[in-house]
Amino acid sequence: MPAADKKPETASIPRHIAIIMDGNGRWAADRKLPRAAGHQQGAEAVRRCVKGCIEQGVRCLTLYAFSSENWKRPAEEVSALMSLLRLYLRREMKELNRRGVCIRFIGDRSALDDDICAQLKEAEDFTAGNRELLLTIALNYGSHGEIAAAARRLAEKVAAGEMQPEEITAETLAAQLDTNGLPDPDLVIRTSGEMRLSNFLLWQSAYSELLFIDEYWPDFTEETLALAVAEFGARERRFGARS
Ligand code: FPP
Repeated sequence: MPAADKKPETASIPRHIAIIMDGNGRWAADRKLPRAAGHQQGAEAVRRCVKGCIEQGVRCLTLYAFSSENWKRPAEEVSALMSLLRLYLRREMKELNRRGVCIRFIGDRSALDDDICAQLKEAEDFTAGNRELLLTIALNYGSHGEIAAAARRLAEKVAAGEMQPEEITAETLAAQLDTNGLPDPDLVIRTSGEMRLSNFLLWQSAYSELLFIDEYWPDFTEETLALAVAEFGARERRFGARS
């Protein structure tokens, strides 16, 4: 990645960055710590990332905190992740609000504990008027489920005579996704050296720039974000057209 201070003249700031925060477990293993310690440091990295986005002028940040496939992990780890989320929301809400962050959640809430659902709603209501940064946290989220649910809702509308099949377009389908109203991500980042999207924003990332970073998520800093923004600025986006 080019250094942030060597940002080219044409550099543009991604309006929306989406991040697959990977490598918490390996970060902990390298230090002979329990995995939960890696997730705790991951939550610290979330704080730095939010701060970095505000400093860089990024308007939307979407974080993959728990996938619909993460239930396959041992119950102990799932429980540690949920407790961490509770703690993060309790501890950070005032500060996020002070910084002008509007927080929202995407994903299927039906499998989440009632107290977490209540906390999510409280956080959304508390920060609803903020405009500095829209922070979306994906929880029990998976693109396949999201797209299938959107298709099902459109099929129900057609069956009820509220819609014609010809009215099913990319736009009407996108309007049924959890991300309705959110611009598509300009930049999708995955940490830890893994190079896959793991069922994250598959529809929305059709034209996103992808950036795979070797460092583990707990090591992510404001500087990492600045480097990622600089790398984005050096990319040429054509959206299928010619330059
Ligand atoms: C992937 O690392 C990370 C997760 C499945 C959880 C992400 C959660 C956090 C960063 C903590 C809290 C988040 C918020 C929003 C407060 P991994 O466990 O798969 O790491 P590994 O691949 O090295 O094992």
